[in-house]
Amino acid sequence: MTIQQVDSTNNYLKQLVSNSKPLIEGTVIMAVDQYAGRGQHQNGWFAEPGKNLTFSILLKPSFLPVSQQFDLVRAISLGVFDALHPLLGDGLTIKWPNDIYYGNRKLGGMLIENMIQGLQIKNSIAGIGININQEGFPENLPGAISVKQILQQDYDLKYLLSEICRHVEAYYLSLKADKISLVRNKYLSRLYRLNEEGEFKSKEGRFSGMIHRVTDSGLLVVKNNKGEDLEFSLKEIEFLH
Ligand code: BTN
Repeated sequence: MTIQQVDSTNNYLKQLVSNSKPLIEGTVIMAVDQYAGRGQHQNGWFAEPGKNLTFSILLKPSFLPVSQQFDLVRAISLGVFDALHPLLGDGLTIKWPNDIYYGNRKLGGMLIENMIQGLQIKNSIAGIGININQEGFPENLPGAISVKQILQQDYDLKYLLSEICRHVEAYYLSLKADKISLVRNKYLSRLYRLNEEGEFKSKEGRFSGMIHRVTDSGLLVVKNNKGEDLEFSLKEIEFLH
């Protein structure tokens, strides 16, 4: 369903899930104008009306134990990656944990909100924002990029949305069919700066190292120049250039 204007498609879908009769898995809410989009770390998500993809998908991954929630992050990121790869080619990567990057700039991101019941994930709202036809970004977002800025061409939002949903569904079904290693290996192979020497910042300060792998539960493993494997969760590490 497309909505003209909404604060956040994640909020909207969350309300639908809690207010109405059961919604079917795979329900997609897309906004033309999402005026108060939410990002990770309590940040906002800015998208010019009518030019970008801002949407949320309802999943019901009750087959997936809570301890495996990061596999859902992997599956959704890979679905977005595979949908955009035919357009954008090799500059495209997934920046751990779930940013979509082109070169060193951010093309899109996702906010996956799980509703847990016992040891199971009852509902998951996968909110996805991808910069498509926007021609410029505010000064406070110097790291953002859109498909149009890369290819100098406008793209059909509905077509790209259906491609993303098709690929997300395929990876989701792989998880459901227990093809976990396929999803994990593919995710690792798409990672931004995998096996490249780079600069990072943790609470101990700056250090150089190399992204080496991601643990099953989703921690980033960076090998420092003493050869030690250091594990980081989301807020514990920053990538420096
Ligand atoms: C990030 O910070 O990288 C995550 C951005 C997620 C934005 C999407 S846009 C559709 C959905 N609705 C929201 O409010 N946020 C997500």
